[in-house]
Amino acid sequence: MTETSVQQHGQSTAEIGTERLLGKGLDVGTANLVAAVQNTDGSITVKLERNAFLDVKADVYSKAMLTKLKVPYVVRGEQLIVLGEASFELANVFGRETRRPMRDGLISPNEVDGLPMIRLIIERLLGEPAQPGENCYFSVPAPSIDRDNNIIYHQGLFEGMLRSMGYTARAINEGHAVVFSELAESDFSGIGISFGGGMVNICVCFKTIPALSFSIGRSGDWIDKNVADVLGIPKSRATFLKERGVDLAAPNGREEEAIAIYYRNLIQYVLTNIKARFESSSNMPVFQSPVPIVCSGGTALAKSFITVFQDEFKKMKFPIPVSGISLASEPLNSVAKGCLVAAALGDAV
Ligand SMILES: Nc1ncnc2c1ncn2[C@@H]1O[C@H](COP(=O)(O)OP(=O)(O)O)[C@@H](O)[C@H]1O
Ligand SMILES: [Mg+2]
Repeated sequence: MTETSVQQHGQSTAEIGTERLLGKGLDVGTANLVAAVQNTDGSITVKLERNAFLDVKADVYSKAMLTKLKVPYVVRGEQLIVLGEASFELANVFGRETRRPMRDGLISPNEVDGLPMIRLIIERLLGEPAQPGENCYFSVPAPSIDRDNNIIYHQGLFEGMLRSMGYTARAINEGHAVVFSELAESDFSGIGISFGGGMVNICVCFKTIPALSFSIGRSGDWIDKNVADVLGIPKSRATFLKERGVDLAAPNGREEEAIAIYYRNLIQYVLTNIKARFESSSNMPVFQSPVPIVCSGGTALAKSFITVFQDEFKKMKFPIPVSGISLASEPLNSVAKGCLVAAALGDAV
C-alpha cells in the first residue's frame, strides 16, 4: 500500500479548524483502489492499493514460505489469500497471474470470489467510519457509448458493502470526481477526463452539475492489446514497454511507435466522441467563457500525453470554448480526492 499526504488546495488549515471534516472518498478502479481521507490538520492522506489478490493453498509449507518472505496474508478456509501489491510480487515469484476482481471498470463476472477480497482491501484503506453513517463517496463509471456496461448491479454491490461497514455510501461518476478534485478554480466548470485501465470516463460539467457523462470501453488495456497484436508480442510485454516510459511526442523504435500510434488514436476517439455527444444532446449548457480540460488516470502518465492531446485538439473544431488542457497534479489520486470533496460537500452535490 502506498500512502501520500498532500495539503488540500484552496483551503487553509485555519479555515477548517481542528475538527476533521466528515466524509471519505474511494476510487473503485479496475487496476487500483484508492482512498482519500482528511486529517485533523486539513491535509489529505491518500492510500492506494492494487485491486488484485492471489490464493495459495493453506499448507504448512506455504505458510512458512510466506512468513519467511514477510508477505502478509489472511486465511480463508483452505486458502491463504495475499492481497494487493504483495500479490503482484508473489505472482512473479511463482510465475503465476494475479486474480483481478474487476474488469473494464466493473465487478468481473469471471471472478465470483473477488468481492470479499475487494472488501478486505477497502477495509484496510478506509478504516472505520469516524462516526456512524459517515459519508463515503465512491466512484462508478458512466454509461458506456460502445459497450454494454451494467452499472446498476456494480453500484448496488458497493453501496451494500460500504453500508455494512458503517458508511452512508453514495456513488459519483468518475469523470465528475475529477472535476471536483481539479477544477475548483473554474467554479467546477469544465471537462474532467479519467484515462484508466479498462475505460475512459468523461464528464462535461457546468458549475458542479454534470451536463454530459459517458465512458468509452477502450483505454490503457486497449493500447496494450493492440500493440501486442501488431508487434506479435505478449500483452504483458506491451504493458511493460508502455509503463517503462514512452515519450509519445518522440517515440523511439518500432515498439514505441506502435504505442504512440494507439495513444494518438485513443485521444482522437475521446475528443471526437465528446464533440459528437455534446452536439447531438439537447439542453447542453452554453459556456460563456472558456473552460479547462483536465486529464487524469494511469494512462495519462505517459510522457508528452498532454502535448499529443493539444495537438489532436487543434486539428478539430471543438464545440466548447477551452481555456487550457492540463494534467491532474496526481493523476492516480485525483478520482479519490474528488470523491472526498464530494463527500465533504455532502448533499450539496
Ligand atoms: N507510467 C505509466 N505510463 C503509462 N501508462 C501507465 C503508467 N502507469 C500505469 N499506467 C496504466 O494506467 C492504467 C491504470 O490506471 P488507473 O487510473 O489506476 O486505472 P483504473 O481506474 O482502471 O484502476 C493501466 O492501463 C496501466 O498500464
Ligand atoms: Mg480509475
